[in-house]
Amino acid sequence: MTISYKELGFVNTKEMFANAMKDGYAVPAYNFNNLEQLQAIITACAESKSPVILQVSKGARNYANGTLLRHLGRGAVEWAKELGANIPIALHLDHGDSFEICKECVDAGFSSVMIDASHLPFDENVALTKKVVEYAHQHDVTVEGELGVLAGIEDDVVAEKSTYTNPEDVEDFVKKTGVDSLAISIGTSHGAFKFKVSSPDEVPPLKFEILEEIEKRIPGFPIVLHGASSIDQTAVAEINKYGGKMENAVGIPEEQLRKAAKSAVCKINIDSDGRLVMTANVRKVLIEKPEEFDPRKYLGPARDALVEMYKNKNENVLGSAGRY
Ligand code: G3H
Ligand code: 13P
Ligand code: ZN
Repeated sequence: MTISYKELGFVNTKEMFANAMKDGYAVPAYNFNNLEQLQAIITACAESKSPVILQVSKGARNYANGTLLRHLGRGAVEWAKELGANIPIALHLDHGDSFEICKECVDAGFSSVMIDASHLPFDENVALTKKVVEYAHQHDVTVEGELGVLAGIEDDVVAEKSTYTNPEDVEDFVKKTGVDSLAISIGTSHGAFKFKVSSPDEVPPLKFEILEEIEKRIPGFPIVLHGASSIDQTAVAEINKYGGKMENAVGIPEEQLRKAAKSAVCKINIDSDGRLVMTANVRKVLIEKPEEFDPRKYLGPARDALVEMYKNKNENVLGSAGRY
């Protein structure tokens, strides 16, 4: 059975990105895997009147079950209205790795999908991305493709590497595939251990010159930044203070994301920052109140802290607050 995202109350990313491009901000794309993360995202975006892209990875689908996620998503749309917010909400597949998973999500009510074929040779990336676009567009679902490979946590990103997006490829890729947005690699990285450095001051700056070159070649085309968590050092210190072990966890400085959000970057992906805040707060309660065994008593404070973190992103980093 095929379910249209329109019946569930979601929107695709077309208008969201057009507005973000026009007004110089980025739409937040927050990953969720459970109820508390979703509640925090919706509360924060409703309170700050920000559009939002709810991101579901393959891992999230395996963890939370596709049917449950769909109904959580539909509930989130209704709940946002009850909160008095008239914000657009998209349900997006993050890092889809095959035509089949993208099709499954289109058929299950997602309004946007990413096909991440960036590890394949250019022509194969084009062919797979085009196939997904052809199917998704029949259902008015938008598609994000990717060119260039983000540095992994093992990669020494301080050195120049050929994994950055090659600006010479972007025009051809966009034309041949028909994608609606393009994720690029300009020095961001997934996870909490983004760079092999011992302090946040040593984090290498993003390659804005590559972004500018890309903008020149595909003017007005929506660009996406993955791996954009800032890895708040207060949260890292809390985790370590309450028995955790996270050494040399560093992220992308907020100042650089602010600059990116004003450019053609229309979507900024954040997952790890949410994981950190949640873990820090759960650890704190469990250590300070060892008698506590009601999950609501340790997940509740973590959820409250998440709301504040997401609101801060919308208001002070991405600039998406107050847009609706
Ligand atoms: O970019 C990856 C996202 O952070 C999702 O991570 O695959 O562990 O759910 P995951
Ligand atoms: P972070 O690990 O930096 O939060 O990146 C998340 C992401 O890119 C999801 O696709
Ligand atoms: Zn990503």
